[in-house]
Amino acid sequence: MDERTLLNGIPLFAGMPGEQLQTLAGALKRRTYRQGAPILHQGDPGDSLFIVVAGRVRIYTLSPEGHELSVWICDEGDFFGEMALLSGEPRSASAEAMQATEVLVLQRQAFRDYLLANPTAAIHTIEVLSRRLRSTTEDAEGLLSLNVTQRIARKLLQLMERYGVPGEDGVLIDLNLSQEAMATLVGTTRESANRALSALRDQGIVQVDRDGIRVIDPEKLQELLY
Ligand code: CMP
Repeated sequence: MDERTLLNGIPLFAGMPGEQLQTLAGALKRRTYRQGAPILHQGDPGDSLFIVVAGRVRIYTLSPEGHELSVWICDEGDFFGEMALLSGEPRSASAEAMQATEVLVLQRQAFRDYLLANPTAAIHTIEVLSRRLRSTTEDAEGLLSLNVTQRIARKLLQLMERYGVPGEDGVLIDLNLSQEAMATLVGTTRESANRALSALRDQGIVQVDRDGIRVIDPEKLQELLY
């Protein structure tokens, strides 16, 4: 697929006039990563924006004790790396490919020029950042007020909306999530996440198998939050 066709399908570039698309296409570099490969590191200087065109990227932070907290998942069409680029500060988090991933990379000046020339894209960027900030605030509030089982219940409900594939025996969360990955999504240890997931499984609320996690009873998950 050529860059122009690719760019047309990306929300950040939606509705861009043809000749601008051409200019932007010339400024973009393609990069590919295999599953598990690091893309950027928390604390590093950064002056580029990444746009996922295929695959999936996990954004996470690492505590001094080595605990990972996954803060966001970028799917096709999503961008990341805008914070260091816009603020001039170091990378606020790390990013790794959750599967074979292809990205487009745009340098600071080209992105700034694009936003200055396209108020719609600037507003889109602010909307995306607002959604991420809201989600981060909710996660932080959950760390204070919810126990691990409740945090897992809420995360499963959120993931179900985004990645749920309904089937005969419940809704599969189509993310290939290991229990370890689940632990990093709710800021706990693998052992605690395992215990909470086992309890949910014993109550017939979820099923954990080779395909990942399947939600059998979403209402019960919801009830756990009250
Ligand atoms: P940057 O700081 O340049 O590099 C890491 C990127 O991870 C960051 O830009 C954002 O794109 C993304 N990121 C950091 N924190 C969050 C968060 N709380 N929610 C979603 N994305 C984030």
